[in-house]
Amino acid sequence: MAQLEHHDIQGFLLSSYGHLPCATYLLLRISDVASSRQWLARLTDEVRTAVAVSKAEREQEVFSVNLALTHTGLSKLGLDPAALATFSLAFQEGMAAEHRARILGDTKDSAPQEWHWGNADNPVDILLLVFARDEDALEAQLRQRRNDIVAARGIQEVSALSAGRQEDTKEHFGFADGIGQPVIEGSGRLSRQLDRTGHATVLKAGEFILGYVNDYGVVADTPSATGMPDFGRNATYLVFRQMAQHVAEFWRFLDDATRRSDGTSDQAARERLAAKFVGRWTSGAPLVKYPSGDPHAGTSTLNSENDFEFYENDGHGFACPIGAHIRRANPRDALGPDSQTALQSAKRHSILRRGRSYGHRLANPFVEDGTERGLHFICLNSDIERQFELIQQTWINNTTFSGLQRETDPLIGNHDKTDRLFTVQDDPLRTRVSNLRSFVTVKGGAYFFLHGLRALRYLGSLKDSIFHYQTEWRDE
Ligand code: HEM
Repeated sequence: MAQLEHHDIQGFLLSSYGHLPCATYLLLRISDVASSRQWLARLTDEVRTAVAVSKAEREQEVFSVNLALTHTGLSKLGLDPAALATFSLAFQEGMAAEHRARILGDTKDSAPQEWHWGNADNPVDILLLVFARDEDALEAQLRQRRNDIVAARGIQEVSALSAGRQEDTKEHFGFADGIGQPVIEGSGRLSRQLDRTGHATVLKAGEFILGYVNDYGVVADTPSATGMPDFGRNATYLVFRQMAQHVAEFWRFLDDATRRSDGTSDQAARERLAAKFVGRWTSGAPLVKYPSGDPHAGTSTLNSENDFEFYENDGHGFACPIGAHIRRANPRDALGPDSQTALQSAKRHSILRRGRSYGHRLANPFVEDGTERGLHFICLNSDIERQFELIQQTWINNTTFSGLQRETDPLIGNHDKTDRLFTVQDDPLRTRVSNLRSFVTVKGGAYFFLHGLRALRYLGSLKDSIFHYQTEWRDE
């Protein structure tokens, strides 16, 4: 088993910072290279690493700062073209590139031209992730970070994306989130995951951290730079998508779709259909294990059970529909030819989700209040194309997924090439929900690189001539 170099890995890669419930993501743009490098060099000393701390120490933690860069950011900081060419193609092109938008299904209102940020009109170089214990600590951190940015005089704030305080682990449609999550081998998180969910998919470190052996048994090519061949070691690719959720539209649609013949609302049928969309009840309880009802209905109890597969227990989708969000996002053992092969293959398309909701909870889920709310979807992976993009393209937005016809993910799918249907398999007869809407709109996004600490120091100490750095690096 690989020994992870915790001192060089950013803390965000191994932790979602549940103990720091307040967060703001600062999107920054570089205008002066020399001062930005100096700012980066100073900041790197404050970036939280993944070095394990005791429970008592963690409870004392007030904030955490982590940092990631886009391809343009790296280029502006002076990484030479040969080094830039060693990054994955998806990262080099960026999420807003026409070709990638097609892969991701970002069309119409979700097209990059419509985005608030991350497109050609409003590009981003740096993502500064600031997490804090409470609102006051977050305010204090943001004040300090902004003072440093202003003093550096070479960096502009493009946007501050607030994820506020997480009230609970429910996303805005009302479902428990953050349950299905792989464990990185050697990360020390296995027993916690087993305790929490009753299940753990342990994956090789190289699936999420560059420079380590992956599920294929090899160390994948990692970015390298002049004078620092292992520039990409201990890093990961960070996918960021600001996804607005149209909550009232979602619940009104479900309400209309499940009305009784006399036209009155049927709450139980509405909640059941919502659960069929997701594959879990709002409490988080999985349909495969609880097909007939939410075991926690009417309570605020959350359920993180994750010890189930589809092939044996629910091959036909009678409990969790074939096209439900969790079954598309992670088909587990369902996509043949046999359950073991399917499981092995699905593991190679896993992501670590680190998203947080933004915006206030809608007071009445059936009445829009004119403000934007949604999910700052963040995921980490060592191969954007094989992991995040494959899930998005081959599973979520696949109109012929697992034998279905002309439908996509009912929660977040692109409906351009569908009949706007969602099939709920049942015995003896399936039912079909029609006239699906887009309940989610992408408002911005980018591919970032979450570096190891040594690589950040390398970038901060780059001079216009690379040879200065090489001298300093050898002296260290
Ligand atoms: C607004 C957008 C989204 C919402 C509201 C949402 C909601 C949810 C919910 C409620 C769950 C079930 C709870 C859990 O297992 O954590 C879930 C699971 C999951 N989602 Fe999403 N999601 C969104 C976007 C995405 C995107 C863009 C992807 C990837 C392309 C994705 C991938 C996954 C995965 C991999 C799982 C875990 C499946 C499993 O292992 O069972 N989600 N999501």
